[in-house]
Amino acid sequence: TLSLLACGATDRPSEGATGADSGSPRTAAPAGATRGAPGIGDPDFPLDGNGGYDVAHYALKIGYVPESKHLDGEATIRATATQSLSRFNLDLRGFEVSGVSVDGAAATFSREGDELSVTPARPLARGAAFAVKVTYSGVPQPVRGSSNLGSYGFIPTGDGAFVACEPNGARTWFPANDHPADKATFDFEITVPAGVTVLANGELVSREPAAGGGTTFSWRESHPMVTYLATATMGEFQLREGRTPGGIRNLAAVDPRFAGELGDLYTRSGQITDHWVTVFGPYPFSSTGGVVDDFSAGYALENQTKPMYGGFRPDQSIIAHELAHQWFGNSLSIERWEDLWLNEGFATYAEWLWTEHTGGDTADERFRAGHDRPAGDPIWSYPPGDARPDDLFNESVYLRGAMTLHALREKIGDDTFFRLLKTWTAEHEHGSVTTEEFTALAERLSGKQLDSLFDAWLFQPRRPAA
Ligand code: ARG
Ligand code: ZN
Repeated sequence: TLSLLACGATDRPSEGATGADSGSPRTAAPAGATRGAPGIGDPDFPLDGNGGYDVAHYALKIGYVPESKHLDGEATIRATATQSLSRFNLDLRGFEVSGVSVDGAAATFSREGDELSVTPARPLARGAAFAVKVTYSGVPQPVRGSSNLGSYGFIPTGDGAFVACEPNGARTWFPANDHPADKATFDFEITVPAGVTVLANGELVSREPAAGGGTTFSWRESHPMVTYLATATMGEFQLREGRTPGGIRNLAAVDPRFAGELGDLYTRSGQITDHWVTVFGPYPFSSTGGVVDDFSAGYALENQTKPMYGGFRPDQSIIAHELAHQWFGNSLSIERWEDLWLNEGFATYAEWLWTEHTGGDTADERFRAGHDRPAGDPIWSYPPGDARPDDLFNESVYLRGAMTLHALREKIGDDTFFRLLKTWTAEHEHGSVTTEEFTALAERLSGKQLDSLFDAWLFQPRRPAA
């Protein structure tokens, strides 16, 4: 499912859709078949995602051997052409591609950087549904140390892999329209050596001995998901499964090094998910839970249905944060990265709500502590409503983003504010959102003019007045 429109570049700019040039008869493609753009249209990440099609479903068949770090993949991507396509791109980083087909017919392809360009045997008509299959193999190359992001993507570990892909690391393990503006459902069929457990999104469909030895885990995420939330984290894990007190399926998994945390992770994740249902609205997915792997990522990621904690014992606050993302970020996904505060500001505000709910500091106290930061504090010079591509996860996006919500709450009152949160999640469930849509809804529900409040908190490079 696609939310941003990208313009296609015309392969033959002189020949318009009318076929006006009468000189040389053309027999090949439908008139005006164009090349899909190499990016989806996010000005901050010009080559992320691709233009000209909308993915509905990824079916990923993957074999992975931790000892050799070798990955064999066969990805089948079902999509719809949103323009007539003479060729189109996928994002894929590294790997050897041994074959690409479109609707069963061999296609030609080329590679340049992270772009895999595919020319189908016959152009695709606008509106046509098609399936592209890519066969690839090699040792995954995660993205390492770019500005404040640390390492991300498919990261091989001693016993398997730690797979956390925000913002654009899906391409490190499968060919993708790798941008949050295109959400799709996923099937994972992943074969690993005996003793290795695979934890992907959604629900386990089957777990069977593989023909050539080892085990095949089939997982299915049947709700739309952005590519950066896809995971197939692998290794030795201890599991606890059941339901939250409120009846939502719950799965906690920990690396044996964190065996002592399994019970707590399971119980807290369940309890917090149930609480968020009362504050944010119905749980958008088929299960909740959490995974603690022993890779020290230095961060957590809200992988859909299975938030992941990279090598540390998660406290209540971070569990509250990652589970709030299941609504803010995962069900309601940003259409462009500059709006990241819609994910991180909301999840940070959820931490404050949870702390208050459990008898700690109130949200108001947290807001005041933030607002008391001196005028020279770096959060005041970074407007959180315009997250920067080279510093996406700046503290301002989290903290000043959360403060924006508290300032809004003070202005419109508790009743309207909490009604706004539930209306926001209900109106855009499983969809894509922008800051403008949020501010418009806040104005509609409150009946107040909120331009100056949002402008001061989100867009000005200075500390807003109290
Ligand atoms: N969304 C995550 C969180 O706030 C942050 C992920 C950071 N990503 C990264 N590649 N380091 O919980
Ligand atoms: Zn977050």
